[in-house]
Amino acid sequence: MEGANFTTMLLLAFEGIDGSGKGTQAKLLARWLRERGYEVFLTREPTGGAIGRVLRRGLSTSCFLPRTEALLFAADRSEHLREIMEHLHEGRIVVTERYFYSSLAYQSAAGLELEWLRSINSFAPEADLVIYLDVDPEVALERITSPGSLRGVTREREHFERREFLERVREAYLELAREYDNFEVVPAEGSIEEVQTAVRRRVSARLAAFERERKTGEQRALEDFLARR
Ligand code: TYD
Repeated sequence: MEGANFTTMLLLAFEGIDGSGKGTQAKLLARWLRERGYEVFLTREPTGGAIGRVLRRGLSTSCFLPRTEALLFAADRSEHLREIMEHLHEGRIVVTERYFYSSLAYQSAAGLELEWLRSINSFAPEADLVIYLDVDPEVALERITSPGSLRGVTREREHFERREFLERVREAYLELAREYDNFEVVPAEGSIEEVQTAVRRRVSARLAAFERERKTGEQRALEDFLARR
């Protein structure tokens, strides 16, 4: 957007368990924001960068210890933040699918201490708004597993373990939502349109504040400029 200044920034993060619809909702929100004249940088974690790629490979083969994985997620995020900050400084709204709250929720559900996770992620600034898409793990798993892929005892066991894990992740997210003021819990079992309407409602409220802050910032910059003449 024109007239970007260097003080007002908006970082929006989507969070939720696997299959909660973050990708779809983030894309729709980015499109809506662009239609309203904002420049948007849409991004995600784990990233497609060097560390993100190592992470994804490790996740699919389960070759890392949970603690190593947590450190890799944080390292990936450190690289990601350089890019995020550049876009924010250029006046874009940044929408990220997952941020450090994913580490707090998933890695604590995997048994790591929350305080340690906070400390290795303490370099990452808070998001201005976290949209947490809340769904029951069973509903989420149905969305991401193709029909017929869950046949057989081994598959059922895997499904059960995954569901148990995602239930712990969900609990962890709900606990974070109670703790962090910037969290908005959006029930996400409805249709894509219903969820998107709820997301936009939350974002609109934050956008109004963003616009006010930006106007004040521009006003101040103008006053400074005039005072220096
Ligand atoms: P996901 O968003 O599902 O990416 P993709 O759809 O491309 O596979 O992320 C992959 C997994 O990584 C997902 O199960 C959540 C997990 N994850 C963490 O455990 N901690 C983190 O900090 C992040 C960013 C992701």
